[in-house]
This record gives sequence, structure tokens and C-alpha cells, in this order.
Amino acid sequence: MNNEQKMLLTKERERLADFKDRGLKLDMSRGKPCKEQLDLSMGLMDVLTSKSNLNVNNMDYRNYGILAGVPEIKAIFCELIDVTDDEIIVAGNSSLNLMYDTLQRGMQFGVAGGVPFHKQEKIKWLCPVPGYDRHFGVTEVMGVEMLNVPMTSEGPDIAVIQELIKDPAVKGMWCVPKYSNPQGLVYSEKVVKALAALKPAAPDFRIYWDNAYMVHAVTEEGDTLTDILAEAKKAGNPDIVYMFGSTSKITFAGSGIAFVASSKKNIDDIKSKMTYQTIGPDKLSQYAHALFFKDAEGVYELMKKHQKILTPKFATVMNILAEELTGIANWQEPRGGYFVSVDLPKGTAKRTVELAKDAGVIFTPAGATFPYKKDPNDSNLRIAPSLPPIAELETAMRVFCCAAKIAYLETL
Ligand SMILES: Cc1ncc(COP(=O)(O)O)c(C=O)c1O
Repeated sequence: MNNEQKMLLTKERERLADFKDRGLKLDMSRGKPCKEQLDLSMGLMDVLTSKSNLNVNNMDYRNYGILAGVPEIKAIFCELIDVTDDEIIVAGNSSLNLMYDTLQRGMQFGVAGGVPFHKQEKIKWLCPVPGYDRHFGVTEVMGVEMLNVPMTSEGPDIAVIQELIKDPAVKGMWCVPKYSNPQGLVYSEKVVKALAALKPAAPDFRIYWDNAYMVHAVTEEGDTLTDILAEAKKAGNPDIVYMFGSTSKITFAGSGIAFVASSKKNIDDIKSKMTYQTIGPDKLSQYAHALFFKDAEGVYELMKKHQKILTPKFATVMNILAEELTGIANWQEPRGGYFVSVDLPKGTAKRTVELAKDAGVIFTPAGATFPYKKDPNDSNLRIAPSLPPIAELETAMRVFCCAAKIAYLETL
């Protein structure tokens, strides 16, 4: 370490001590909508009253039934993702729950007539990295072996995938194709088409296409994602994709509506098992969502309002990173979604989180963006800018950068 670096380390340590003295208690660990975003959907509470007519389409929505979701909300999702009524199931409040159940069904019953995964010797799963920690949690808890696939600026590395799917034990793949978690990237047309046309050795291989952020741009102009369900049909591969999504980051994160969409064959397969699991979803919540949105346009209008709240927060993170960590770390400028992904110098991510925690700011643990929580470089960290007010976000980001600089300088 040269003298200049020694002085910088002393200065940053003093700065961190000052932050510590302020008794901060900030949590930047999870991508939750902020209060102002949640307030945008309070109208959801007003669309149904004790006077509402809940006998719709000759069905009393207060009663049992309608396994695949009420037609009104299905119609809106069908328009948003361009599928037909028999290619979608609209369910409860969590898409993660649907993903878990879908994999669990594969384990227990097999995929569309295939041998149950638990009766097959070894099951493997492709995991683009960095990725969503809860995806990796689902495959880990089910005992599925996870294989890292590096992300490129266009999406996961297709050459690596094509090689790995020659192994018939590879049964699936996680993808967050639009505004990926955590990098905020949109898969390119080339990558989506290549994924739709994959020819895996395993006939029961499925892509878990988690479209969690399908309408969640943080730019004015937004982005278009190539329609993988349509491309899969064109490629003669209609059953290769399950698409998931929800309104968790549209209305209320805890009380939204989730869906799974796929070929009619796959959807019928899911329904044939789901019918034992439930008599039907929460139709009142589904109906309220449909009345609140009115139509697909209503969803887009609401998302514009979210964008106006989130864009300045992402800009705050970008500006502070550029000011403090240029030349030390690398990061992507997200086009949407809920996260910023930062690659710190090798071997410094854990230490950065530890130092920030010491100063009262919690970040997602290092390693969380990788299967088994193992980042081979101890480098990637995920920042979630949505929840805190801008002033708090600024402080948290200053602490982050200060901690990252100390962690880096300590390695010299
Ligand atoms: C990529 C991704 N998928 C799914 C979820 C959770 O979705 P849900 O609330 O519908 O279970 C999240 C939440 O952060 C996410 O980032």
C-alpha cells in the first residue's frame, strides 16, 4: 500500500466511525415497495363494498370454485402477456409459491407424464448468476444440484447452457428475463429465441421464466421483451416454458395476485394436480384487482406512477456509486426492476457488508446472489433502493461506498 492509499484508508475509517456515532438503523436488504408505492393502490380497498354485486357470470365469487382464476383478472393478464384463457392459471398472492409448487409437483408426480424427479437419480438445475436468492433457495431445499451459468449483457450465456443441457439430469433453469434480479438487464431477442429453441436431452426440462418485473421499467421509454411463449411455439418447443408473474410489485407485495402461463398441455397438467390442492383461489382479491385495474392499460398507467417514484431512487444510487467507486467497482445501470448489482474487487464483498452493518446499515449478505450462497469471487452485492426515503438512501449508499473502499484498501 502506498502513502496515498494509507491516508485514504485512515480517512475512510474516520468517516465510518462518524457514521457509527450517528446510531444509524437502516435496512437495504430486501426489494420492498415503499409506502408511497403501496399508497398508489389504496383504491383496491374501495372497489368492493357490502353493496357490491358478487354474483358475476352466474358464479357467486364469495363461494368455492373457479380453480384457474376469475375471468375478469385472467383477461387482463392474458392481454398483458398475450396468452389465451386456457394457457394461464391465476392463483394466490405469490408467484414464488407457484414456482415452488411447480417444482414440487415435478418431484412428486413428474412433468407431464414423466418419471417423478424424486425417482430419478440426480436432478440438476441451471442458475444464471448473479441471480435471485429465493430461486436458489427453492432448488437448494429440494436437494436439486445447482449449476452456475454466467450472465452476459444480453442474458445468460447460451453456449454454456447448450453444453450443460446435453446432460439428461438437467431438468430446469431459473430465468428473470426482464429487469433481471439483481442486474436489471433485459434478455436480448437473440437470447430469448435461443432459449425457446433449446433441445435439452431431458424431455421433462422446463425453463422457469420468472417475469416478476414485466412492467417495471425505471426509464421513461421502457423496454420490450421478446415473447418466449410465442417463440417456443414457433420453434416446435411449445412446452418448454412456464412463465410466472404477480402483482406483488404492482399493487401490494403481500396481497397481490400471481399467475403461471404455459402451453395448454402444461396448464392442464398443473390443473390436474392443483385440483386436489385447492377448491379455488381468493376470488374476491382477484375480482377487486380486475375492478381496480379495469384493463391492461390500467396496469401500465399504475406502473408509470411507480416509475416516477423509483427513478430518482435509482439515480441516487447511480450517482453516489459513480462519485465514490469509479475505478474500484463495476455495476450495471438497471433499466427496471428492484435492484442494483455491484461487483466489488475480488474478496471484499463479505467485508463490505460486515463494515456497513457495524455502522448500522444492513445490506443483503454477500453470496446471496449465488447458489449455495457461494460467490466464488466474494465480489457481488445487491442493493435494493426502493424502500427507504431518498435522504436515508443517500446515507446508506455513502456508508456502502465507505465500507467498500475500506474493504478494498485493506486488501492492498
Ligand atoms: C425475481 C423475483 N421473483 C419473484 C419474487 C417474489 O414474487 P412474489 O411476491 O410474487 O412471490 C421476487 C421478489 O423480490 C423477485 O425478485
